[in-house]
Amino acid sequence: MYHRLFSEGQQIVPNLSEVYELALAFYESQLLTNEELLKRSAYFAKIDDAVTNHFMICTGDPVRLPKSSSSRLKSFFQKNQFRTGYATHGLFPYRGKFHPQMVKGIINVMGLKPGETVLDPMMGSGTVLIEASVMGIKSIGLDASPFCRFMTKTKLDALLMPLEPLQNALENYQILFEYFSGAVGLAKPGSKQRSRLSTKPANTLHETDAAYEICDDAYLTAVGSNHSFVRNFLLLAYLDSAGYSERSQRKSPLEQFRDILERYKFVVEKIQKVIQNIGMEIVPAAPIEGDARTLPIADRSIHGILFSPPYSFAIDYVKNDAFHLNCMGIDIPPLKNRMVGLRGKTLREKYNHYVEDMDKVLAECARVLRQGRFCTLIIGTNDNQLSKALGQPKESVKGLDQVMITLASGHGFTLFRTLSRQISGIANTMRHEHIVILQRD
Ligand SMILES: C[S@@+](CC[C@H](N)C(=O)[O-])C[C@H]1O[C@@H](n2cnc3c(N)ncnc32)[C@H](O)[C@@H]1O
Repeated sequence: MYHRLFSEGQQIVPNLSEVYELALAFYESQLLTNEELLKRSAYFAKIDDAVTNHFMICTGDPVRLPKSSSSRLKSFFQKNQFRTGYATHGLFPYRGKFHPQMVKGIINVMGLKPGETVLDPMMGSGTVLIEASVMGIKSIGLDASPFCRFMTKTKLDALLMPLEPLQNALENYQILFEYFSGAVGLAKPGSKQRSRLSTKPANTLHETDAAYEICDDAYLTAVGSNHSFVRNFLLLAYLDSAGYSERSQRKSPLEQFRDILERYKFVVEKIQKVIQNIGMEIVPAAPIEGDARTLPIADRSIHGILFSPPYSFAIDYVKNDAFHLNCMGIDIPPLKNRMVGLRGKTLREKYNHYVEDMDKVLAECARVLRQGRFCTLIIGTNDNQLSKALGQPKESVKGLDQVMITLASGHGFTLFRTLSRQISGIANTMRHEHIVILQRD
């Protein structure tokens, strides 16, 4: 099969085993020149003995895990070295995050070229923006949640942030922990009440133009820099560690913070070294807080759209991120009202609002996308949840992929192709999702 799909000299990455991956690799090999394959393909390790950028970015130690991690977790990262966790994707465990290698493959298959713009109207943790940045493609991302905008911006800035202050930060982690827990609150280990903080934030952090002002002597002495990229990065590490502490009591919050800081430092040092070694240009991206139902984007200005909407009400993103949103002083009820999948009281009401909202999102996608270009959605269905909500047997529940295709056809999209992929994350209950590629008429 391998020899029939790829020409001599095209060597795919190790552990490429799923049918949809082979399909995307095949399309990449058909659509990109050898030079393009070297620079931005997702599924190739070598072209005629030259190593690809993707291989360079992913090779070496995978994400550094704490010594206490289970062998199952370690082998997951080892096996998925070329799929996930590379660049700055591993910096925050956002639920429902895209699979980065697949994103890169789809960007290529949609025919996007350097200088063109890709849009993710529901960017979550910013996977599309980060991939586009390292591929030389411009990008715009929106999310209703200000926390997603903060997380995405921080992960993008981390590709270019100064590294020297991180060693100071790690050496002085106790001082920083004291500082952040005073400023934004302390997690309650093992707490089920995800929206409460055990100490009231002292409100010493003020957001200004997507960075947090930190005017604190203890902070400045510990870090030795007041660079906004560094401030955001350390705050994200603190919020990440507080989230872990809430869920598990295996380590004290202080130990958790030290371990996460060490891992974050490892991640950025690794990717920045590769960026320097291969002289990779990082293209600026625009992460915005906004509503996908009313895009602040001109008609027909976008060259490709790639996104993963909420899978109906399967994940309550506001509840999930309650600690972080609280820390950032976000007013939660109005935010909940803007979130697709969360509006409504009963599950059936939520489902009906969801379909209504997604119809608006798809209408906006059709408006901003250029003629003949592609819009790809990644979507799966939780049959159990939907069958309960709709009072129908599981077998007769219409998949969300089909619902989206029907809605999209009302806005000038034609179905171009669908691929199915298994969900490999170890904590997922959903087993499959669909890659739905639509073309703008
Ligand atoms: C499945 S997640 C996307 C994950 C993302 N692909 C990633 O790689 O992290 C769906 C996202 O849609 C966002 N969302 C929900 N309602 C929205 C709205 N009205 N406008 C924009 N984003 C919204 C949620 O906050 C959530 O981050």
